[in-house]
Amino acid sequence: MDKSTFETKSVVDGRMHVSQKHDSAHKHVTGSAEYIDDIQEPVGTLHGGLGLSDRAHAEIVSIDLSAVKASPGVVWVMIANDIPGFNDVASTGQHDEPLLAVTEVQFHGQPIFAVIAETRDQARRAAKLARIEYNDLPHWTDIDGARENDAPNVIEPMTLRRGEPETEIGKAPLRVQGHMYIGGQEHFYLESHIALAIPGEDDEVTVWSSTQHPSEVQHMVAHVLGVSNNAVEVKTRRMGGGFGGKETQGNQFAALAAIAAKKLKRAVKFRPDRDEDMSITGKRHDFRVDYDVAFDEEGRIHAVDATYAARCGFSADLSGPVTDRALFHADSSYYYPHVHLTSRPLKTHTVSNTAFRGFGGPQGMVGGERIIEEIAYATAKDPLDIRKLNFYGQRGSGRTVTPYHQEVEDNIIARIVEELETSSDYRARRQAIIDFNANSPVIRKGIALTPVKFGISFTMTAYNQAGALVHIYSDGSIHLNHGGTEMGQGLYTKVAQVVADTFQVDIERVKITATTTGKVPNTSATAASSGSDLNGMAAYDAARQIKERLIEFAVRQWKVGREKVEFLANRVRIGSEIVPFDTFIRAAYYDRVQLSAAGFYKTPKIHWDRKAGRGRPFYYFAYGAACSEVSIDTLTGEYLVDRTDILHDVGKSLNPAIDIGQIEGGFVQGMGWLTTEELWWDDRGRLRTHAPSTYKIPLASDRPKVFNVKLAEWAENAEPTIGRSKAVGEPPFMLAISVLEALSMAVASVADYSVCPRLDAPATPERVLMAVERLKAMG
Ligand code: MTE
Ligand code: MOS
Repeated sequence: MDKSTFETKSVVDGRMHVSQKHDSAHKHVTGSAEYIDDIQEPVGTLHGGLGLSDRAHAEIVSIDLSAVKASPGVVWVMIANDIPGFNDVASTGQHDEPLLAVTEVQFHGQPIFAVIAETRDQARRAAKLARIEYNDLPHWTDIDGARENDAPNVIEPMTLRRGEPETEIGKAPLRVQGHMYIGGQEHFYLESHIALAIPGEDDEVTVWSSTQHPSEVQHMVAHVLGVSNNAVEVKTRRMGGGFGGKETQGNQFAALAAIAAKKLKRAVKFRPDRDEDMSITGKRHDFRVDYDVAFDEEGRIHAVDATYAARCGFSADLSGPVTDRALFHADSSYYYPHVHLTSRPLKTHTVSNTAFRGFGGPQGMVGGERIIEEIAYATAKDPLDIRKLNFYGQRGSGRTVTPYHQEVEDNIIARIVEELETSSDYRARRQAIIDFNANSPVIRKGIALTPVKFGISFTMTAYNQAGALVHIYSDGSIHLNHGGTEMGQGLYTKVAQVVADTFQVDIERVKITATTTGKVPNTSATAASSGSDLNGMAAYDAARQIKERLIEFAVRQWKVGREKVEFLANRVRIGSEIVPFDTFIRAAYYDRVQLSAAGFYKTPKIHWDRKAGRGRPFYYFAYGAACSEVSIDTLTGEYLVDRTDILHDVGKSLNPAIDIGQIEGGFVQGMGWLTTEELWWDDRGRLRTHAPSTYKIPLASDRPKVFNVKLAEWAENAEPTIGRSKAVGEPPFMLAISVLEALSMAVASVADYSVCPRLDAPATPERVLMAVERLKAMG
C-alpha cells in the first residue's frame, strides 16, 4: 500500500454503499480463483467413485463386488457396514437419508457403495462392474402418481388460514377453479459437488467442501465417523455457484471422503461428474397447485383456497421449509380477505428435492399470479389493474394482514409498480401490442408487469444468527472471517466493505479468508438471502468492539476527550494530531490493547408457530417489479424475450454493482426455470435430462434484447439492518414471472383474449405451441 496517499485521501476505497468490485472478479475471469479441485493435492491423494442404484424402488437381494475390488487401481470398496458412526446424512434429524443404501433403494441413482482408487478414472470404471440383484417394489415418481398411490407426506403438511374461506368462497359473485403444474429446476452450478478430506491425528479430519453450510457438513462428518464435532474442521473458500443446491447436498460427498480418509490414512477426494451430480443430487421441487378463487365483477379477491402439492423425493431434506415458504408466498403481493392454504409435501421415488433460489417462494408466487390472470381474463381487464386492485394496503387500510397473520408494515409495492409502469411505458406498449396482434397472423406478442414481495429471514427462527471474527495484526492489516460462504454472490466483498467502513480503511487492507468451522462455530447455511444481513451485522459487531477499545486507548494515551478521536480515511485524528492507521495500531499493540474480537448477531422481532400458522416469520420484505415483452411464433411455439424493464428494492444498497448483478442473474435464472429448463424422468424413474445436451439453461443470447435494470434508489430498509440495506440474493428470481405471463398473453391473443390460457411451467416452445393449438381448437 502506498503510504504517501494517506495524507491526501479524504474517502476510503470500498466503503459501504459504493460499487466496489467483487473481490475475486479478476480471479474468476483469469482462472486464478482457487476452487477445491485446484487445491494442491496432498501426496498420495486417492479418489472416490460411486456405485448407484439402477432401480427407482427395490429391495437389494445381493451385491457382488468382486469385479469392482479386482479392478486396476482400486484400494478400497466401501459399503454401508463400513461406516464407523451412523449411516445417516439427513439434515432434518429424521434419519430418513442413509449415506449408502442397505437393504432397499428408493430412487434411481441412489448411492449403494463407494470405490476408492488411485485415480478418479479408475474409481469410476470400477464402480460400473458391480453385480447387484434387485427385487422391484412399486414406485411412483411424480405428484399425480404420488396422489394415486396415496403416498405419505415426507413431513407434516402446513396449513395457513384466516377469515371464513369456506363460506365466503360460495358467496362471491364470481369464482374460478383450476390447477397448474410448475416444473422443478436443476441448479447447474458451474462447479459440481466436491469434497477433499485430509486425515489428521487421533480422530481429527479436515474437509474442504463445496458447501453453503460448513457447520452442517461438520456435524454430518462427525455423525458418520462417530466422533465429536470438535474433531472435524470444514473449510470453504468459495463455490462455483450453489443456488441452494449446496445447502444440504454436499453432506454425502464430504462424509464419504472423510470416512475413506480416516480408514486409509490418505487424503481422499470425491468429485462426481456433471451427469452424476445431476442424477444424485436434489433439485427445485415441482408443484401442482389446485386453486379456487372467489372475486367480484371489479376483480377484487374475496377468498382463496389453494393446495400446493410438491414432489419431494424419497426423504424430507428441506421439503418442509420449502413447501412452507411456498405457502408464505402464495399471496404474492395481494391481500386475501379470506384464505385457506395447505401444503402436500409428497414422497416420491426420486432424488430428494432441496433448496433452490427462492426456496418454494417462486412456486408459491407463480400460483398467486396465475390466480390474478384467471381473474383478469374472467373480467376482461388488464391483469395489471387486477394486481393494483388487490395489492396489500398501507397501515390502517385494514388490508395488511398476510395468511400467516404477519402484518405487512413496510409496503412499497404500489410505488415500485407505479414507477415501473411509467418508465417502461407499459400502457402504451400494451395497446400497441394488442394492435400489432390484430394484424399479425403468425407472430404474436405479449407483455406483463408483475410484482415481487419476498419475505426475508429463515422461517426457522433459530437459524437467524451469525458470528464473525476480526483481527487487526500489529502492522495494521486486518483479517476477516465470518460464518457466511461465498458462491459468487459477493457476500465476502460486502462484509469486507462493512469492516473497511467501520475503521475507515481501504478494502485492500481487509484480508477475506476462507470460511471455516474452526474460526466461527455453529453457523447457519448461507441461504434465505440473509448472508449479508446476518454476517454483515456480526462483522460490524466485531469491528465495533475493537474500534471501541481503540478509542479508549487514544483517549488514555493522548489525554483527549472521546469526541476528539475521529477515524479519517486510513488515519486517525486525535486532538490536533493525525496518525496513520498502521502507526496507530502499532501503538495500541504496545499498549497491550486487544486487537481481536468475535462478533455476533441475531435477527430481532421474528417468531413463528408453525402448528398455529401464526407469527412473524419475516423481519421485513424485499420488493421489486418487472415488465417483460415477448414474441411467439404461433406455428412453432418458439419465442424471444424482446425487452425487460426491472425496478428492484434492495433498501440502501451495500454495493450497487453487485446488487445489479444479482438482479440480472436472478432474473435470467428464473427465466430459464419458467421457459426452457425441463426435467424429465422416464417410467423407470431415470432422469433423462442429466446433461446440458438435454437440459437447456439460458444462453447469453436468450437474455432480453433490451434489458433495463434499476435499483429503487429512494428505498431504505425500515428496519435497522446493516446500512439499511436489504437482502438481494433470491427476490429477483421471481421477477421472471413477468416472462411467463407475457407468453401467456401472446398465446391468449389467438382466442382474442377471451380465455385464460393456463400455460404450465416451464413454458417450453412445445408447451406454448400446445397452448396455442388448444385455443385455436376452441375458437
Ligand atoms: N449468486 C451467485 N452468483 N451464485 C449463487 O450460488 N445463490 C443464491 C443467491 N445468489 C447464488 C447467488 C441463493 S439461493 C441465495 S440464498 C443467496 O445468493 C445466498 O447469498 P446471500 O445470502 O449472501 O445473498
Ligand atoms: Mo438459497 S435457496 O436459500 O440457498
